[in-house]
Order: sequence, then structure tokens, then C-alpha cells
Amino acid sequence: MLYLNSTMRLIFGIVAIGLLWGISLPTLESQTMDKEIVLPAPRLKSEVSLEEAISQRRSIRRYRPEELTIGQISQLLWSAQGITEGGMGFRAAPSAGALYPAEIYLVKKDGVFHYKPGKHRLKQVLEGDVRDQLAEASWGQKFIAQAPVDIVITMVYERVTSRYGPRGRRYTDIEVGHIAQNIHLQAVV
Ligand SMILES: Cc1cc2nc3c(=O)[nH]c(=O)nc-3n(C[C@H](O)[C@H](O)[C@H](O)COP(=O)(O)O)c2cc1C
Repeated sequence: MLYLNSTMRLIFGIVAIGLLWGISLPTLESQTMDKEIVLPAPRLKSEVSLEEAISQRRSIRRYRPEELTIGQISQLLWSAQGITEGGMGFRAAPSAGALYPAEIYLVKKDGVFHYKPGKHRLKQVLEGDVRDQLAEASWGQKFIAQAPVDIVITMVYERVTSRYGPRGRRYTDIEVGHIAQNIHLQAVV
């Protein structure tokens, strides 16, 4: 499955466990790269209402070639999994049991970056452009390789099934939708 959004030339890949198998991303533990990017703080106000964002959201598959700004990337990742309540560590999207099974990756022409919600930082986990492989792993949909940024959401089922048993897979699949929707609406704003 793949979700797409338009306004910020964003492509959003979902059910990313399959995508990760497809492009053989290395595990985080195997990484030695130490490049960490501090993201600017997200803004918490905008001039676009929620109703306008819902009504303007649309899937498109053609993108301008420019990179997103670091501010735009920050905002999108924050909307996906940013910490919104520091005390308990609650995040922007709801999560069954607050177990947070999502791990989010940003795929750009210069590499793959893992989002760390706690620090609101990106850590590079792979160098080089894997967007062609990502497109190939997504049923050959070429626009994925043409987007300046792909956001890949991976879900660790075990974090949820270890508490809730088999139904934890359903909870996890539902949570992906929550995260995706946040990104889609944020991209409009
Ligand atoms: C679960 C799911 C999977 C989707 N997968 C794809 C996809 O693989 N490729 C694609 O181009 N669009 C995909 N879409 C986007 C739909 O085609 C799109 O939402 C639909 O055409 C309605 O258009 P709209 O999003 O602009 O309202 C997917 C949407 C959902 C909800």
C-alpha cells in the first residue's frame, strides 16, 4: 500500500516492513554512521484551518524536483511521531497502550535517515540514493523515485502483540493510518 500527498511534493510509503525487506535496509544496530541532524522545533500554529487542510488534501504523483526545507521535514516528521506531551512521552498520533510501534525513515537522494522522536533528530543510517529500489519494492511506481522525499513508516508488530496478542497486529495496522493521516494533513498546511 502506498499513500501519496501533494502540496509539499511528499511521497509517503506505508506498510513499510515489506518495503524494507524489498530494499534490504540494514538494521540500526549494524550502523556506524554518526551523522545526526538536529531538526528545528515544529511550529504549533498555522493560518490553515483543519477543515481547509482536509478539504485541500489530494493524492498527486508528480513533484517539483526541489528538496524540502529542513523546516518542512521537521514539521512532517513531528506530525507523524513528534512528542506532544513531554511528561509521559505521548506522541502526535494515538497508539494502542502508548506502545509506539512505529519507526519512521526519510529517504532522500543523499541517503536514508531514521527519525528519533525523543530528540526530534534525524540519524543517517544509509548513504546513497535508494529511491529507485524503493519504487521497485512498491510495485514499480516510478513517481516514488522522482519525489525529493519519501517517508517510510515501519511498524514493529512485536511491541504491540507482546501485550495484546494477535489483535496487536490490527492495532498496529490501524496506527499506521493515524500516522499517515497526520502527515497528509500537515503536508497541506
Ligand atoms: C491504503 C491505501 C493505499 C494506497 N495505495 C496507493 C498506491 O499504491 N499508489 C497510488 O498511487 N495511490 C495509492 N493510494 C491513494 C489512492 O489512490 C487515493 O487516495 C484515491 O485515488 C483518492 O484520491 P485522493 O487521495 O486524492 O482523495 C492509496 C490509498 C490508500 C488509502
